[in-house]
Amino acid sequence: MTSERIRHAGLAAKVTDAATAAALIRPGDTVGMSGFTGSGYPKAVPVALADRIEAEHAAGHPFRVKVWTGASTGPELDGAMAKADGIEFRLPYNSDPIAREKINAGEMEYFDLHLSQVAPMAWEGFLGHMDVAVVEVSGITPDGDLIPSSSVGNNKTWLDLADKVILEVNRWQSPALDGMHDIYYGTALPPNRVPIPLVKSDDRIGQPHFRIDPGKVVAVVETDAPDRNAPFSPPDEAALAIASNILDFLTWEAKRAGLPPSLLPLQSGVGNVPNAVMAGLIETPFEGMTAFTEVIQDGMLDMIEAGTLRMASATAFSLSPEKALYFNDNADRFRERLLLRPQEISNNPELVRRLGCIAMNGLIEADIYGNVNSTHVMGSRIQNGIGGSGDFARNGYVSIFMTPSVAKGGAISAIVPQVSHVDHISQDVQVIVTEQGLADLRGLSPKQRARAIVEKCAHPAYRPMLEDYMARAAKGSFGQHAPMLPSEALSWHQRFMDTGSMRT
Ligand code: COA
Repeated sequence: MTSERIRHAGLAAKVTDAATAAALIRPGDTVGMSGFTGSGYPKAVPVALADRIEAEHAAGHPFRVKVWTGASTGPELDGAMAKADGIEFRLPYNSDPIAREKINAGEMEYFDLHLSQVAPMAWEGFLGHMDVAVVEVSGITPDGDLIPSSSVGNNKTWLDLADKVILEVNRWQSPALDGMHDIYYGTALPPNRVPIPLVKSDDRIGQPHFRIDPGKVVAVVETDAPDRNAPFSPPDEAALAIASNILDFLTWEAKRAGLPPSLLPLQSGVGNVPNAVMAGLIETPFEGMTAFTEVIQDGMLDMIEAGTLRMASATAFSLSPEKALYFNDNADRFRERLLLRPQEISNNPELVRRLGCIAMNGLIEADIYGNVNSTHVMGSRIQNGIGGSGDFARNGYVSIFMTPSVAKGGAISAIVPQVSHVDHISQDVQVIVTEQGLADLRGLSPKQRARAIVEKCAHPAYRPMLEDYMARAAKGSFGQHAPMLPSEALSWHQRFMDTGSMRT
């Protein structure tokens, strides 16, 4: 008997419950799960697996697995599995608070890497062997092809690489997703790699469905469960000021460089501030814009509805719960405007460089020379991960990083003498923007960059401290190209850890 969503008789015959499917996963297995920023992750099998792991632990039996995904997932996957202490190793991106605590307590190994590199590295064998894939899809065609869900991520790769495949078919996902995906099977490993034939954000170069060897599918589980993305907070004053600074810059840059009214393809990172920037772009004179980005956030759907964004290409949705419901109810209207691709294509450096994306990402801290830390608080505590920020920052037309100038109620300056961890070297950072202002660093030497960043971006409470450091570094430094005082450069972080504030 086939169901409305499972139209292949052979795969319909494999429908079972989540506990039976989870029982096929063994201790120590490497499990490739679907999921990208809270969408398209499996919602039943990980919970059943976490229950089983808890029962095994209670009986005194060790049971942990290695989990690879597209990016972050939801509470039913990372949350439940981390709570059960069932994850031994995790890659490539996490934003779940329970998993974050385990990682920072040293109880879970975590390998955070550029999202465009995950699939190639898996194929190259750098990451080890994949035993099982657990992938959410929105349906199965009569031919046995898989209709992807609300994220594509690394699913194509996991389905091809894993020994065994467990499918979750989620009825909650809109049937109108069918046709929104572009799955490109033309990637190959060196020396056989060829150019990716995509020259515009809206080019379709692949097929709408995943292929799968039905013989590898060991279980099919039906679900009816929503994606769980976090809601966006309404933009605060700082977010609005940052958005306004970026919009002024883009308007000025378009004029300076003679860019078309559609600008260049936009990439917008995760978080409230990038979402606020998208909201701000509704009010601009730009029109017919496109996005070549990683995730489609609320602001992009609003831009599409307002007519300022013609289309968006990404690998996943990252919508607030209300917007996800709205999308499901209106998916047909967005069908022609949205394209979801595998993350090695949505984030591909070759494509980002060719298209000339305007890269806009958040940061944790930047130093006076423009090196950016996006991942580690006080140099050692992982927040989320580098995600796709490096894929876009190094290769875009212009790379913009944004942050409020202070964190934790002013106890921390986002502009410091030296970052406590480096994700983006100064060469990959062309613009830094806070609510205080915007520093355009293109073509500037290190000393010129430092003056621009401190003057335009630092909070007034920290600006004199930074100026004082720079003046003393200019006298006491070993070299004068990028003056620094090694014994003092990280003292701001030490002071915060000792006293709760970076202020003297
Ligand atoms: N020092 C210490 N903590 C800091 C900090 C700093 N300099 N700057 C921010 N924080 C803390 C905030 O206080 C907040 O803590 P909380 O969770 O306890 O409230 C947390 O970090 C997140 O900061 P927030 O201001 O809410 O930022 P955000 O939602 O805009 O996220 C990043 C900022 C950098 C964490 C986020 O953009 C990120 O993970 N980036 C890397 C991945 C990426 O760029 N992906 C997009 C590619 S497409």
